[in-house]
Amino acid sequence: MTTPTPASPLAPAWLPAPTDPDALDPKVWSAGTARADDGGLAVQGVSAAALAAEFGTPLLVMDEDDFRARARSFREGFDSTFRDLCGGADVYFAGKSMLTLSTARWAAEEGLRVDTASGGELAVALRAGVDPAHIGLHGNNKSVAELAAALDAGVGRIIVDSVDELVFLAAFAAERGQVAPVMLRLTPGVHAHTHDFIATAHEDQKFGLSLAPSSEGRDGGIAGVSPAAVAVRIALQADSIELLGVHCHIGSQIFEADGFGLAAERVLGFLAEVEAEHGVALPELDLGGGHGIAYTSVDEPRPAAEIAAALAADVRKAVERLGLTCPRISIEPGRAISGPAGLTLYTVGVTKTVDADAPDGSTASRRYVAVDGGMSDNPRPVLYDADYTAVLASRTSDAAPALSRVVGKHCESGDILVRDVWLPVDVTRGDLLAVPATGAYTHVMASNYNALTRPAVVAVREGEARVIIRRETVEDLLRREVDPQNPS
Ligand code: LLP
Repeated sequence: MTTPTPASPLAPAWLPAPTDPDALDPKVWSAGTARADDGGLAVQGVSAAALAAEFGTPLLVMDEDDFRARARSFREGFDSTFRDLCGGADVYFAGKSMLTLSTARWAAEEGLRVDTASGGELAVALRAGVDPAHIGLHGNNKSVAELAAALDAGVGRIIVDSVDELVFLAAFAAERGQVAPVMLRLTPGVHAHTHDFIATAHEDQKFGLSLAPSSEGRDGGIAGVSPAAVAVRIALQADSIELLGVHCHIGSQIFEADGFGLAAERVLGFLAEVEAEHGVALPELDLGGGHGIAYTSVDEPRPAAEIAAALAADVRKAVERLGLTCPRISIEPGRAISGPAGLTLYTVGVTKTVDADAPDGSTASRRYVAVDGGMSDNPRPVLYDADYTAVLASRTSDAAPALSRVVGKHCESGDILVRDVWLPVDVTRGDLLAVPATGAYTHVMASNYNALTRPAVVAVREGEARVIIRRETVEDLLRREVDPQNPS
């Protein structure tokens, strides 16, 4: 139905000109997103136009069924795959990707546990009614108040990140007459193929206890012994610590199975050393999150069952080789559950076309499409060079696709939401655009830069939309001001 598209020397090699820019690649859209009879986008039968009219834009729309289905597929995939090997597996939803009262409840109702990364996230999970025994608390620098909140609530596990924290927590729990349930976060030295800032298991970074022997006895350590081994000795000796097991997380937005497999093998090797040294078989092993999703058509995510099967094969091989009893496995997916379930609706304002210098030395047209949000509602393109895609959501168009850049409204030229996308050339003021795969790390990372108010979040299910986070108002922003000219 569309005119053939001229290629652009500005387009990155991975972005071929589409035959139909209105088409929806099921990989990047939630299962409930489709084009309605009038051509407009709809989520679970609710049209984008109706959502925008009722709730305004920018609007983060969560397809609740899609979120729940992904949560279920992780739980069922992992639990059934690991049942014979180690009695099953637990799935913790990584709250940091998209924690609200509603999403925490969806996860819990689908049989997941919840992983939190701060006192604030812990408070949300508790307020949502998640069983404290099914909550984990992470953080490389937890405050005393956060540790106290975790112990008060009776969380199922505190993931301890350093020898420093372990020594402190042992004394703190003892002082309170409590026993802290602890997992030790290890850095297995696997450098995942992802952006440097979201890769977390190589040595030279802030997270975790290294498996490599220390060259000197730094920070309370012992020369020639790894910080991880030192931590196990301390934990096993402390009456106020119940050492449940070990944890590792190699990074985020990872597609290859080999990194996860290698990390699993290394931490299982460590568990075998612990058993040899102390005669203790630690009962739990958490293999973290980080499973990649499709932001654009070039990404090839694997279904949860496939991830589980690959990991189970690696775990089986390692436990057989090491003669270990398999510990109970847990994982912590965040983005893979919440990311594809979300899309952001924006209203188009200003458009313009510029002559841009192409890498091949030629000059070509680039269309700028400015929308009513930007880096404050999705900082990922700016922070991580993350690629996204977009479609015209309020209608379809027969106009030729034009190489376009979707930008926000901030006072910053780097304020880009979608660096390169083919949009119909007639996209204009008042049209709605939808950006898929925005369910993870957008709402939770949003800011008030330029005093923009943060978008509402709506959940859509069975033809009904309801607000789960209301839109921020200018009054909300002013509420935190302490005005010396008008002391109240
Ligand atoms: N477990 C631990 C210990 C983590 O640190 C993380 C993410 C997860 C699980 C969940 O990872 P996921 O399955 O969602 O990839 N803001 C960045 C991502 C930072 C991830 C931090 N830790 C982004 O927008 O890409």
